[in-house]
Parts: sequence; structure tokens; C-alpha cells
Amino acid sequence: MKEVLTNPSAGYYMSKDVFGEKGDFITSPEISQMFGELIAIWLINEWTKCGKPTPFQIVELGPGRGTLMSDVLRVFSKFKMAESDFSVSLVEVSPYLSQIQEKCLCKTQNEKISELPIDSLHYKESKSLYGSPVRWYNHISDLPRTFTLFLAHEFFDALPIHKLVKVDQGWREVLIDLNREDSTLRYVLSRERTPASLYCRENEVRKDLEISPQSSVMIQVMASRIHQDGGIGLVIDYGHEGDKTDTLRGFKNHKLHDPLVKPGTADLTADVDFSALKWAATHPRSVEDWKANLTFGTVDQKDFLTRMGINMRLEKLLASCRNEKLANDLKSAHRMLTDPMEMGSKFKFLALYPVVMEKILLKYPPPGFS
Ligand SMILES: C[S@@+](CC[C@H](N)C(=O)[O-])C[C@H]1O[C@@H](n2cnc3c(N)ncnc32)[C@H](O)[C@@H]1O
Repeated sequence: MKEVLTNPSAGYYMSKDVFGEKGDFITSPEISQMFGELIAIWLINEWTKCGKPTPFQIVELGPGRGTLMSDVLRVFSKFKMAESDFSVSLVEVSPYLSQIQEKCLCKTQNEKISELPIDSLHYKESKSLYGSPVRWYNHISDLPRTFTLFLAHEFFDALPIHKLVKVDQGWREVLIDLNREDSTLRYVLSRERTPASLYCRENEVRKDLEISPQSSVMIQVMASRIHQDGGIGLVIDYGHEGDKTDTLRGFKNHKLHDPLVKPGTADLTADVDFSALKWAATHPRSVEDWKANLTFGTVDQKDFLTRMGINMRLEKLLASCRNEKLANDLKSAHRMLTDPMEMGSKFKFLALYPVVMEKILLKYPPPGFS
């Protein structure tokens, strides 16, 4: 899955724009500005609750076309956040998508790539339309150490999973093999236990499951930064609470696609196991992180957006809309984002806070979560 999505020469994300009507799938920020605007309000509210610490950075993991960050920065500028000392850090493994993000957020092209010192941890830098520094990183561990607002929308579902099946002898991993007769790919079961099976929980009742050690490592780095440097995390994705089994699938031209056919030409994705993410985020990796973080959620996208005021925002946008087609598009975007039969229930929101905020959160719980 990792090779298929992010191999430097043939990976799915590495050399094309895969989003939107002309691509293979559409994401919530691409559907409507309302999505990113409400997330921006949530971030400003929670940052204010922390005492408006500066300097700070806003980090997005896997920013796609940069649309979500662009909507967030526009709202930040309306709230005069540009006057605060903050920077934008993007964790993006695809050089091609980083160019689209740069165009979207900074209106520059390959700014300051050649001038970077050899030991620089970011691979590119520019300035947003509102004047904040924007830097691109390959890995979450490379991010600067400072108070951080983390955003991850449809990021964890793109991280590789291992598929495990319980047979009489114990856990066996589903591996991918080459069919010698016709050179197609096929699934096979490992003869012995593989290292991935060590990640199965003792009390696991499912006989068929997917685990993502890379997702656990990523969220632990996020949790550790939040604990050590201060910050808040918001993770949004489709997923479950540790009860689903077989969810790996491919998408091409907005249709389901067999993951083993023409790998690299279609998106691969698996539902996020939020119970595993929460476990990893609250079980520290090292002694410095000995105090666990706090998690809130998951809550359904429909509930989060409704509690954050999407109905009011729709009314406001409709009131200033003079064009009937645009008004209909707005209504249909609102329905897609919130209808339980569309994205309203499938997508979940999870928030992460440092344990030092426990008392404040008891008094002022995170908006959108209850
Ligand atoms: C499904 S897209 C989501 C894009 C965007 N967040 C949105 O919702 O429109 C996944 C994004 O994560 C990036 N990505 C995938 N694997 C990554 C990894 N291991 N490290 C950093 N970025 C990665 C992809 O290049 C892409 O930008």
C-alpha cells in the first residue's frame, strides 16, 4: 500500500492531481468552503482557550490540493490572526501535490527550494497570501518544536495497513503474491506468524482485521509533541471504533476498483481504526511522555458541523447569493457534508489535548463534540 501510493517514481499520489470531479474521489474541503471555515473557527476557539500561545504553528498532514488550509487561513486573516506570530507547516510526501499546494496558498512556484541549506528539515518554503511563512516537510518528526495546532483530514486512511486472519494455528498475515501463470497479483496467507501479528490486542474478538502500525507511530509523534510542546490535534476521517474487518479498497474515477489491478493507477484506502489511534495517543512511547493525553470523540461529521453552526453559515451564504445555480450548489454541498447517507455519518472527528488542559476542558468542553 505504501509503495502503491507513495513510491517516488510510480506512486499514485506522486505525479498527478487525483482530486475532484475529474479525478478519482472528492473530499469534504473540496465540496464546500463551509467545511474549512468551521474547522478554522474551532481551531481559533481552542487556541484562545489555551491562552493564545505564540509563536505557534498550524500543521496539516497530507494537505492534498491545499484547499482546507486555504479556507482556514482566510478565516484566520478575518480574525486578525496574521497579527499573531504563526507559521504554516505542511507534511506532504508528494512533490507534485506540494506544487499545487504552493500555488493555492502562496501563488508562487517552487519558491526557495534551491536556496535552502543542505541540513534544512523542510524541503521548500514560501509565504502565504496573508504573509505567514509556509514550509513543507516530508515527515511529522521533522516539524519544528513549538505550540502546534494539528489537522489531519483524510490522511490516516492513506497510510498502509496489514491484513490479518485468525486460523487454528493463530494469526496469519494476508500477503500479496505474483500469479506465475498470468503475472497477475493475488492474495496469499503467510505460512507462519509475521511481525505485524504482534500488534493484535490480547482480547481481540475479530477473526479478520486490519492494523496500521504506521498510523499508530504517526499519532504517537503527534501526541508526544502535544504533550511536550503544547498543542491540539483534530483528526477527521472515515473509520470505526475497532469493530470492522475487511475495508481495504481502491477508487478510480469515483468507482470502486480492485486494489490488485494496475496498482498505482487508483487510490487505495482503508477505514481508520479510531480505537487503535486513541489507544496509541494515550499510551506514551517514552518516559518523557509519561502523562497520557486526552482524547474527545469520535463524533459524526454531521453532528460536529451542525454544532459548529453549518446551518447558520449556509443561511448566511445563501442570503448573499444572487445566482440560483450557486445557491443550489451550496444546498447540495451542505447535504453531502451532513446527510448520514452521504458523508454525515461515515466521517468522524477525533480531538487530542494535553492532559494539563483537563480542568479547563471540564469547564469548557471542546465545541462540536457534545
Ligand atoms: C486522501 S489525500 C487527502 C487530501 C486532503 N487532506 C483532502 O482532504 O482533500 C491524502 C494526502 O496525504 C498525502 N500523503 C499520503 N501518504 C503520506 C505520507 N506517508 N506522508 C505524508 N503525506 C502523505 C497525499 O500525498 C495526499 O496529499
